[in-house]
Amino acid sequence: MPTGRLVPCDDAAVRPVLIVANWKMNTTPADAGDLAVAIAAATDEPAVGRVICPPFVSLQPVRDALAGSGVEVGAQDLHHEVSGAYTGDISASMLEGLVSWCIVGHSERRRDHGETDERIGHKLARCREAGIRPILCVGEQLQEREAGRAIAVVGEQLRRTFEASARMDERLVIAYEPVWAIGTGLTARGADAAEMAEAIRQALGELGYGARAAEVPVLYGGSVTSASIGEFLAEPTIDGALVGGASLKVDEMAGIVARAALTARARQVIGETSSGAGDRRGDP
Ligand code: PGA
Repeated sequence: MPTGRLVPCDDAAVRPVLIVANWKMNTTPADAGDLAVAIAAATDEPAVGRVICPPFVSLQPVRDALAGSGVEVGAQDLHHEVSGAYTGDISASMLEGLVSWCIVGHSERRRDHGETDERIGHKLARCREAGIRPILCVGEQLQEREAGRAIAVVGEQLRRTFEASARMDERLVIAYEPVWAIGTGLTARGADAAEMAEAIRQALGELGYGARAAEVPVLYGGSVTSASIGEFLAEPTIDGALVGGASLKVDEMAGIVARAALTARARQVIGETSSGAGDRRGDP
């Protein structure tokens, strides 16, 4: 049974609730479709946006397996150039028709492939040209948080990324993933993640999004499980999760999406009844 405070607010009511599975370098084309089908069946909650991001070689089998399920397919990355001599890489046009989403700027790409904010900005541009909806990952290192610099670091990541991407993206989703929480079993505190989500929208507003920054979904990522998701979704500024390790487990995904559905339904109610209703913060 999902647990956790439900605290929707009017701003949040305009944003969808999203749960994105990042399978990283796990599964094979032979088994990915079956896992996707099992997750789709165990998470059948139309109020929650569900996305599965398998490895490139499993995109087609997963897409075929998920047809008609309501679960969308995303890539984990794409190349920052349109085409050319880039051995082993995958371009946006290769993904067209296969995916509707793409993770961009994941900290494992930054760490293992030397991706810079500038390059990540170019990847956002490639997504835009191909009609692929980007999930831009940002987040600080542990020593940066301990030094009280987390918000400044993420603000700089956003500034440099959008300088390179040249244009604002209306369909942008941000995933706040503190690097020290990814795959470690540690999670940020819900209140810290919520503060960061607010800071991210403020930064987006200053970078050219203006009032539309309030509509950009911000997900939390970093060791999310069915036990911890409630702490994040209790925060009205957080709109879902980017899930790594737990997204390979059907039961975990079922619990995570069930909790997300509570928030999504509460937001729908707030959205339907918001006119002239005054301050609606608090449990429904
Ligand atoms: P994790 O990964 O849930 O295994 O920490 C999250 C991510 O890297 O997106």
